Amino acid sequence: MAKAKIAYVCSDCGGEFPRWQGQCTECGAWNTISEFRVAPKQAAAASKYEGYAGQVENKVQTLSSIDLQALPRFSSGYKELDRVLGGGIVPGSAILIGGSPGAGKSTLLLQTMCYLAEHMTTLYVTGEESLQQVAMRAHRLGLPTNKLNVLAETNVETICTHAVNLKPSIIVVDSIQVMHVLDVASAPGSVSQVREGAAYLTRFAKQNNVAVVLVGHVTKDGSLAGPKVLEHCIDASVMLDGDEDGRYRTLRGTKNRFGAVNELGVFAMTDKGLKEVSNPSAIFLNRAEGDSSGSSVTVLWEGTRPLLVEIQALVDASQMGNPRRIAVGLDQNRLAMLLAVLHRHGGLMLGDQDVFVNVVGGVKVTETSVDLALLLAMVSSFRDHPLDRELVVFGEVGLAGEIRPVPSGQERLREAAKHGFKKAIVPKSNMPKEPIAGMKVIGISRLSEALEHL
Ligand code: TYD
Ligand code: MG
Repeated sequence: MAKAKIAYVCSDCGGEFPRWQGQCTECGAWNTISEFRVAPKQAAAASKYEGYAGQVENKVQTLSSIDLQALPRFSSGYKELDRVLGGGIVPGSAILIGGSPGAGKSTLLLQTMCYLAEHMTTLYVTGEESLQQVAMRAHRLGLPTNKLNVLAETNVETICTHAVNLKPSIIVVDSIQVMHVLDVASAPGSVSQVREGAAYLTRFAKQNNVAVVLVGHVTKDGSLAGPKVLEHCIDASVMLDGDEDGRYRTLRGTKNRFGAVNELGVFAMTDKGLKEVSNPSAIFLNRAEGDSSGSSVTVLWEGTRPLLVEIQALVDASQMGNPRRIAVGLDQNRLAMLLAVLHRHGGLMLGDQDVFVNVVGGVKVTETSVDLALLLAMVSSFRDHPLDRELVVFGEVGLAGEIRPVPSGQERLREAAKHGFKKAIVPKSNMPKEPIAGMKVIGISRLSEALEHL
């Protein structure tokens, strides 16, 4: 028997090393490297399923001769999910849905699969829940259950054998952490098993032209073999985020070989499962009556659509030696940087103040266009001076106190006008060429100008 090859793999970044070491030199994480047994006879196992109807044959050809129509997509039945996946599910692709436990991954996939089962052959494999649990949930959610094929199984080879007989167009595997491959000796959930299992299913997807959706749990400390190690082999990876007690869940792509990754899908968790939110601005902007200081509204650009969100700040005299800076939904380092800019170029000293900032609705903001709104919210809270309720602001703030333009300025302004905002402070270069009906737009190029306008 061939000797199994041993590699050492980091569970955070997937970096591979010839020997064990305490710190991963790729990502700098400590104690994340563990032994990984490369399964023997991989190639043999993968080509086991010859003769499957959808089998793709590989040959050398020129790039231009490839038929572009050959990337058909099918809708998942949820516009928000399709949007994040770049327009729908591509047959033969491997998709990873990550998220913390309780985010609603199983619920979302069960709803999707029940819908898809109406038009195509599907296979829902559950390794975590029993079939009774799945059936009860589907029944409670009032889903059509008579066409969905379900299987309780944790062995990857067995799943593929069933799939060969059934020939489904889409397979859901919930979750990859409990799956195991016979050839790999280590326990389910270990880096070796997760990676080999995912690689096996991805190969199966490619060779048989069936879409495979893998569910992956992300642990808070990332100690368990997290989906990070999988990101190399899969085609698309989406994250379902949201507080377990919060009502809204956001779906965001982190990798997509078939589309852009900056799209955001929004769902609401109700007692009847996950419901799509088609106009997210309306919910994130659900503001309290009356003027209050420390609140500003900005327009984010999420992939192909604008999203209005409220930024809140609380600046309060610190009772402690070193004041706290806490950011929820925003980057902590960006906050520290903006405070420094505010001191240097706005002349406001917040060194003895606690600063808390929050994006309402649990949205995670990764864009820099939020800078100006965040600064104004902090200034508003510090001076206890409410901003105009009908004011919307966006713009990136540079280290020299300059206000930099952001992409899609016009569209952002139009969206804000649609939601009834009458005044906007934007970077000078983002001034619209034609006036926007019902909206007064002020273009600024320095932070000091923004502070003057308040
Ligand atoms: P679940 O899909 O099991 O999460 P995951 O597979 O990501 O671990 O969903 C878990 C949570 O969703 C659970 O805590 C309860 C909540 N939930 C509802 O609020 N309403 C519902 O209709 C369902 C099915 C779940
Ligand atoms: Mg689950």
